[in-house]
Amino acid sequence: MTRPAVTIVIPVWNAVKTTMSCLTTLRDTLGPDDQVVVVDNGSTDGTPAFLATQSWVEVVTHEQNEGFAAGCNAGARRATNPVVIFLNNDTLLAPEWIEGLVAPFADPRVGATGPMSNFVSGPQLLVDDAYEPKSRADIARHADALRQRSAGRTRETGRLVGFCLAVRAEVFAEIGGFDEGFGLGGCEDDDLCNRLRAAGWRLLIAEDTFVHHIGHQTFDDNSIDWYALQQDNLVKLQHKSAAGRPLSFLVLCGSQPLPLIATLVGIEEAVEVSSCEVVLLVPDRKPLAEVLAGVGGVRVVDVGGLSEDRAWQLGQHTASGLRRALLRAGEAVDVSAVQRLLATDPWAAQPTPVGAELKPVVTDPRDLYLDLMEKCLLNTIYEDPAQDPWSARRFDPAKRAGGLDWPSLAHTMIGQKRLDNLRAVVETVLAEDVPGDLIETGVWRGGACILMRAVLKAYGVTDRRVFVADSFEGLPPPDPEKYPADAGDQHHTFTPLAVSLAQVRANFAKYDLLDDQVVFLKGWFKDTLPPAPIEQLAVLRLDGDMYESTMDALSALYDKVAPGGFIIVDDYALAGCNKAINDFRAARGIDDPLVGIDSMSCYWQKRARVLV
Ligand SMILES: C[S@@+](CC[C@H](N)C(=O)[O-])C[C@H]1O[C@@H](n2cnc3c(N)ncnc32)[C@H](O)[C@@H]1O
Repeated sequence: MTRPAVTIVIPVWNAVKTTMSCLTTLRDTLGPDDQVVVVDNGSTDGTPAFLATQSWVEVVTHEQNEGFAAGCNAGARRATNPVVIFLNNDTLLAPEWIEGLVAPFADPRVGATGPMSNFVSGPQLLVDDAYEPKSRADIARHADALRQRSAGRTRETGRLVGFCLAVRAEVFAEIGGFDEGFGLGGCEDDDLCNRLRAAGWRLLIAEDTFVHHIGHQTFDDNSIDWYALQQDNLVKLQHKSAAGRPLSFLVLCGSQPLPLIATLVGIEEAVEVSSCEVVLLVPDRKPLAEVLAGVGGVRVVDVGGLSEDRAWQLGQHTASGLRRALLRAGEAVDVSAVQRLLATDPWAAQPTPVGAELKPVVTDPRDLYLDLMEKCLLNTIYEDPAQDPWSARRFDPAKRAGGLDWPSLAHTMIGQKRLDNLRAVVETVLAEDVPGDLIETGVWRGGACILMRAVLKAYGVTDRRVFVADSFEGLPPPDPEKYPADAGDQHHTFTPLAVSLAQVRANFAKYDLLDDQVVFLKGWFKDTLPPAPIEQLAVLRLDGDMYESTMDALSALYDKVAPGGFIIVDDYALAGCNKAINDFRAARGIDDPLVGIDSMSCYWQKRARVLV
């Protein structure tokens, strides 16, 4: 079987006899195109003289010991083959060990492999008390037996030990090799593995491959306290991991500046930019020159002429964040996907696409006004914290968007999707000429009603009114005798839900929307809605939370909804409201389909009456 040629890099520092044994066993296992590079890290014993006699080996000489990482990196720079195997000189090799390490690279997602061994930490250790080799033949038999037993078996791992580590040469170069900050040696292999995994590469143990390892030979021969060295480097490794930015955005750019700007703005809106890294994969800098000059702190990777896969890969290798969020220029950022990514274990996080469809660029002044109105009503502009008991008194963009918090200042709690829905519904009744006024039953600070009035204003509609129905004192205490579904309901105890009429009027006035097209109905729904001066409704928005409040509003107003009009149910996820809706629809034989809005809400359109 042919296999790709490898470059074997062996850093050495004195211990010439150990190196001799290693090279002797190695030579017989090489293929014709394999390359062996020994990096002499400042040896002062017989090593230089011995190496001078080994013409089959390339030698790189360092005047002094520059450390294991620097030695390996220097050797890897000489590599001419696609796989580099870093090998300690205190190893003894058996036939076909290279074949075993190289075979898993047939999977293009594999970045590194390592063998089983008698002396190694972690899952690469092959425990066998009977293994006490007296000769090369014993080692070869042991290795052969494992190969037979476990032929072709690999195991996914998070960590491969550097005593014998095979890595794709190109990948090793692109991620910057071993970190030379680890000095003489220790933990640079863990660090490399962390970076490979963060870049999306699989690490595999070749479970059918055995390499004999003597262990710590170089440190022992040079009287180095291996344990102390290891402890220092462990601390370095932990600091390095902790310091890593949690998130890198990788943006695959095209040649148009505008889509890139839109995506960069989306990133800025989605996260605290200082806490993440942005890597732009740029096929051609020229058309993007102005944008690139204008954005500070981003990393630019030139990917001209590369396939998309390769461009992403290069970005992965450049990124320093442990979690990678993938986007294409022109895409919006799916904030919840980013948040899910941020919630994952950084070492287990996979590169994740977080792109969403970008809303078309809005230029119609009506849309600009209503878009801004929604942002103001939700206060996603100044980001007031939540005041409910479950949101930890902070602003959470996902909760605000989903209408899942009680804002401390914003004028509505129904969230972005329900506001979008309300706006679309009102625009539809205008476009389809569905006659009637608009009402919300349960308005709190008035935000949803303010939006309805704003839509009428934006479209110049002067013959429809917005009814604003509320107790303006919060919810009623439950009446379990009449409405058993409300038994135990606590809503009436929540003082933040009681907002006065004066306050709601003032809120309308702040938007210049308080006029005679706005009609307030103050009191309990059961009292105010039946006699309300409403002839016909195009939109009935129910937001009273409880069974009673929902049923009272439906009973009084459903028949006033014009055919083609809409009934919006804010609280369909709440048990009381849900039951009221289902009971009412069943009692009246309504089978107009319910359409979901978000996790809480739904609506239906009253079927148009068929004229005969
Ligand atoms: C969840 S809040 C409404 C949120 C509001 N739609 C918004 O845009 O933020 C519920 C409101 O319904 C009112 N309410 C509930 N049941 C009521 C009833 N039976 N009669 C009058 N008002 C009621 C409460 O006073 C409260 O203002």
